Amino acid sequence: MFSSKFSQVKVKLPQPFTDQKPGTSGLRKSTLRFQEQHYLESFVESIFRTLPGVNGGTLVLGGDGRYGNKRAIDTILRMAAAHGIQKVITTFDGVLSTPAASHLIRINKAIGGIILSASHNPGGLSGDFGVKLNGANGGPASESVTDEIYNFSKTLTEYNIVDCESISSFSVGTYKLASTIVEVIDGIEDYLNLMQKLFDFDLISSYIKNDFPIVFDSLNAVTGPYAKRIFLDIFGAPAETVRNGIPLEDFGGIHPDPNLTYAKDLADLLLKGDRFSFGAACDGDGDRNMILGRGCFVNPSDSLAILAANYDCVPGYSQGLSGVARSMPTSSAVDVVAKDLGIKCFETPTGWKFFGNLLDANQITLCGEESFGTGSDHVREKDGLWAVLFWLQILAKKKKSVSEIMKSHWLKFGRHYYSRHDYESIPSEVANSLYQRLSLMLPTLKGQSFADKKIQIADDFSYTDPVDNSVTSNQGLRIMLDDGSRVVVRLSGTGTQGATLRVYLEKFVARTGNLDQNPQLALDSLIKSIDSLAEISSRTGMPTPTVIT
Ligand code: G1P
Ligand code: ZN
Repeated sequence: MFSSKFSQVKVKLPQPFTDQKPGTSGLRKSTLRFQEQHYLESFVESIFRTLPGVNGGTLVLGGDGRYGNKRAIDTILRMAAAHGIQKVITTFDGVLSTPAASHLIRINKAIGGIILSASHNPGGLSGDFGVKLNGANGGPASESVTDEIYNFSKTLTEYNIVDCESISSFSVGTYKLASTIVEVIDGIEDYLNLMQKLFDFDLISSYIKNDFPIVFDSLNAVTGPYAKRIFLDIFGAPAETVRNGIPLEDFGGIHPDPNLTYAKDLADLLLKGDRFSFGAACDGDGDRNMILGRGCFVNPSDSLAILAANYDCVPGYSQGLSGVARSMPTSSAVDVVAKDLGIKCFETPTGWKFFGNLLDANQITLCGEESFGTGSDHVREKDGLWAVLFWLQILAKKKKSVSEIMKSHWLKFGRHYYSRHDYESIPSEVANSLYQRLSLMLPTLKGQSFADKKIQIADDFSYTDPVDNSVTSNQGLRIMLDDGSRVVVRLSGTGTQGATLRVYLEKFVARTGNLDQNPQLALDSLIKSIDSLAEISSRTGMPTPTVIT
């Protein structure tokens, strides 16, 4: 398969690239940018020159199958060989979900992994591509590492690669490229074993076969083969259970983001039809999840709280939770559960990497973000299919519907009405000046009235990591009111076109209050107040958000 004729070469860069600063989830750019000569190579060289343990180490390599995945695997294999990596573990088709990659890094004691994905961004030639680096713990590389990589890339003059014929097809087995071992696996088996350790597959399987039809939408992305193996082959569910189950290079034109806008077909099946009792979808690289029941949508913040409250339904967690964590913009629904369980709840900045230290230090077992990300200490990434299985396990154990679980949760803990409004593709200058203006106003806001309440705190969120004491500042503008409601405003760190403004809205209603309102109505006065304070619609020219969750 690999040509035995190769030579190691150094390729000169005409000039260094200056735009290789990784964002919230690695380096994410348009597919076309990544197709430019030397662009991918420059970033990978900076990784290999920065990551500890490269010489003689093991690297996990795979991606979500989008356009560019195959070429990148070929390039990175040849660069890994040129840098003396001892072993690269990859899959026969190059397809590997982010949580499965995290697991492989951990069980193989790898120095890290390179995951080729732009997560939930569209793919194909007109879409995006991304390169994400994970460290030896299986989680996203820390900011200090990604800063180092970026600094390195700014002065890079050449890269090292093994020159040989490109590698176009693989089959499972072990090969040699120069002195590097390339172990080609199927990518599903290890992940499946892990899920079988955590969940009671027999219980779930018999529940869904017994008049509890489920549907899962892979959105033509990475989770298709995993979902088919679990739901069809193991649970014995009918073929219609997995929709869009073949990973396609352009995701078949679908925007692979599991939310009510981009996974509308699935949402309609559950919210408007009665064929299925449970529905779920995952994103491009398989780390996000959306959960739906018949006639109901589970807000991701509530989902985290419900998983935490019902941990004892799941064999893998029956010994208890050490603590929980949520990103700052995520609602406080899980905080209330943590209080009830007598465990700690941490509030971190946006981005999965901030959970890493807490997970490694055994301070938390479950964690999540409002952006459809939920996970646990089983890997160091959020895990879409894991969350789906967790839900199914709760439903099977309690023999209840999704809406019954939600209602009984709110009756016990109260309801945190919550919504996120995204304004996408705003010209960067408009978004920056809007944000800057609001940020400058913060010190004057305390005590002022807002949505008929008083502003108690207005600040820019800053986080001190409880494990290593590192400080991360400027993580989002918070306006907190005297009834516990709040609005958070942030600029996205993952977009590639212009800027995306995110507005997060939250209001708590106690268990004796009205638990059955439409969230947009329950949050109406917060929505209007932030629009008038931050001049969102007038400055952006967008009367309504692009995506409402
Ligand atoms: C978004 C989400 C964030 C998540 C990240 C990666 O980042 O909001 O919670 O960790 O994608 O999936 P953002 O675009 O807001 O910076
Ligand atoms: Zn993702």
